[in-house]
Amino acid sequence: MTKAKKLFIKTYGCQMNVYDSSRMEDVLKPLGYETTDGPDDANMVILNTCHIREKASEKVYSELGRLKKIKKKRSENDEMIIAVAGCVAQAEGEEISRRAPYVDMVFGPQTYHNLPEMLAKAHRAGDETGRGILMTDFPAEDKFDHLPDPVKPEGYTAFLSIQEGCDKFCTYCVVPYTRGAEYSRPAAQVMKEARQLIAQGALEITLLGQNVNAYHGDDGHGGEWTLGRLIRELADLDGLERIRYTTSYPAEVDDDLISAHADVPQLMPYLHLPVQAGSNRVLAAMNRNHTREQYLEIIAKLKAARPDLALSSDFIVGFPGENERDFEDTLDIIRQVGFIQAFSFVYSARPGTPAAAMDLQVDKVVANERLQILQKLLMDIQTQFNEDCVGREFPILLERVGRKPGQLVGRSPYMQPVHVEAPLDFVGQIHDLKIISARPNSLGAQIIHKVRNSA
Ligand code: 5AD
Ligand code: SF4
Repeated sequence: MTKAKKLFIKTYGCQMNVYDSSRMEDVLKPLGYETTDGPDDANMVILNTCHIREKASEKVYSELGRLKKIKKKRSENDEMIIAVAGCVAQAEGEEISRRAPYVDMVFGPQTYHNLPEMLAKAHRAGDETGRGILMTDFPAEDKFDHLPDPVKPEGYTAFLSIQEGCDKFCTYCVVPYTRGAEYSRPAAQVMKEARQLIAQGALEITLLGQNVNAYHGDDGHGGEWTLGRLIRELADLDGLERIRYTTSYPAEVDDDLISAHADVPQLMPYLHLPVQAGSNRVLAAMNRNHTREQYLEIIAKLKAARPDLALSSDFIVGFPGENERDFEDTLDIIRQVGFIQAFSFVYSARPGTPAAAMDLQVDKVVANERLQILQKLLMDIQTQFNEDCVGREFPILLERVGRKPGQLVGRSPYMQPVHVEAPLDFVGQIHDLKIISARPNSLGAQIIHKVRNSA
């Protein structure tokens, strides 16, 4: 009997990469690859990389250094193929092979459906020091047409990629260069994948796209579905309890999408809508295509449609030219919207982007000080929001057993992790629970014992 081959995928960066990694597993499963949780016993290691900030890119090279040592110790019949996938692969293809010649394959986000072919080539090459296979083509159509059906999602929540690429060209961002032009998967293909995920047990689907609200999927009859339409159609599928979507571009939030928040109860009252900065000067320099006032107006409309909606955001501090006033404007918009969660970063100059060539790059020490201040404010708001949840009841999707005996862990509509003592058979169900305690990053809950009226 042949020994099962072991696959280890290390995923960096965004949820799109998480989705891609699980689809790579689906592609490799029929070739006999089973996943393992570290590189030590792996026959194939894929680093699914992120190029968004310098730190993210550099991590890849240090990880490759570690893998090189493991690979060196392997014998001939215990091979270790090293692959670099994702956005660093797309952006730095040949440089990776130069800096790390022991890497066998380098492939971009739109080519991983070709993994079987790349593997066959690698085996034919049979070279110990790396086979130097490079695949960084673009069109996403090909990939989605050739991927196998998704294999059972882990747990009760699933990601579904509906849109890729970005045409927005924010001046700091590499995504339009690494992920290419905007592409929407056809509506029928998305609906089919959603049905499969539901049949495999998914109660919650998160629709993914770099610009998910730029979705315009071919309906097969010469027309298109918007994201709002897609959400309504998904809401009609039996068994799908929760719908989320991420990441949205504020300037492209349309009325149809806003009204979906009013009409579709399965659409969760929580939205990641990155604003990046609160100063109009900086927003313009970033080429975000909206002002602070327009952003606040979109939020007001969304909240009118769904009053319990809460928001999260991404922030960049230290963008070229950002002064104290601009930074104060960012703090101010945070207070005004009250973002309940957020990701925040110091600006990182990315080669080839317009902002990297701008004058007035902000001193790193100043930028880091601003980040500390901003993160403290965000954490205060998040903690306050969590505390305000105490005493309220929420439907909680119980996803798995917790670390303590008898404890289950789930998610609130606002993505807060929730711990509760509950029977094991609650896993995979949504229960109304009462929130009884709050921490900065999680909530505690208890089962509500409903009093039954006796006849
Ligand atoms: N520097 C810092 N942060 C960045 N992001 C994108 N590009 C950069 C950059 N050059 C952040 C943005 C984006 C998130 C995914 O990463 O906030 O929304
Ligand atoms: Fe990057 Fe801007 Fe496109 Fe988002 S919208 S992926 S930040 S260019």
